[in-house]
Amino acid sequence: MTDTAPPLPDRDGVHGGVGLTALLVAAARAIETHRPDSLARDVHAEHFVRAAPACARWPVHPDQVPDGDADPLWGRFARYFGLRTRVLDDFVLRSVRTGGRQVVLLGAGLDTRAFRLDWPSDCVVYELDRPGVLDFKHRVLADPPAAPAVKRVPVPVDLRDDWAAALTAAGFEPAARSVWLAEGLLFYLPSHAETCLMETVDRLTAGGGALAYEAKVEEDLRAYRDSSIYTAARERIGIDLLDLFEEGPRPDSTVDLTARGWSTTVHTPFDFTRRHGRGPLPEPNDALEGNRWVFAHKTRM
Ligand SMILES: C[S@@+](CC[C@H](N)C(=O)[O-])C[C@H]1O[C@@H](n2cnc3c(N)ncnc32)[C@H](O)[C@@H]1O
Repeated sequence: MTDTAPPLPDRDGVHGGVGLTALLVAAARAIETHRPDSLARDVHAEHFVRAAPACARWPVHPDQVPDGDADPLWGRFARYFGLRTRVLDDFVLRSVRTGGRQVVLLGAGLDTRAFRLDWPSDCVVYELDRPGVLDFKHRVLADPPAAPAVKRVPVPVDLRDDWAAALTAAGFEPAARSVWLAEGLLFYLPSHAETCLMETVDRLTAGGGALAYEAKVEEDLRAYRDSSIYTAARERIGIDLLDLFEEGPRPDSTVDLTARGWSTTVHTPFDFTRRHGRGPLPEPNDALEGNRWVFAHKTRM
């Protein structure tokens, strides 16, 4: 079964390549929004999906997923994104309530936290992603016009390059407390780019702050090639996640951050499934088995 036309060869925007994964997460958030036991609500998510021809036949509502949670893609994987969204919403809100006023979304994609969370009035949210993704987001959120609930600053960059200057030029102040999210990003970056990104986050967090990120700790991602999630994404919506993930050994960013003076805690997504009483649980040959959500804090130096 195919849920979509083949993705267009668009290496910069959302219509192909890694950008299409931003739409996959948006579709998952749209479905999550309408679940009776929703973990996170994002009323903008379905507009992104509807605006992208490549997703014309993707579901945006649980009623359009006849097999429910038994559907590996729009059931279990979508619920994974719903849980991740909720957990990182809670992390960001906790972090701004304890003093962070600058929030940086690394690989922001179609994240609409700037529009949907209840922010202290003096916060700023910086959204970093590739120009084509931010352009698409801007166009969709402009029609009909959506008003951010906080000062929002898009910063078009390639996170494989040196992006620190673009962020500080946009107003970010390294001496003030900051909150960072890298949700669904690091495994798309080459290893050395992840190492540089973590060094940069550390350097720009001179005023102390908090960081949450998602990592994958499998030795060999290809071992899960025939898992139900990777197979469904590849065969039904033309997203070959394993082709998009960077191969080869990854840095251990948790160890690196600890060496730089951060305190870190590492969780599996399943820890939060148990905490919230809903979400994915482990299964055999599970593409989610190596996923970790890392929460790190740095006190002012
Ligand atoms: C799976 S999406 C996640 C988006 C968002 N964090 C969320 O959870 O909704 C991955 C995002 O990372 C972005 N990304 C991947 N590589 C990037 C790079 N080199 N520079 C900037 N953004 C990048 C993609 O454009 C995409 O928006």
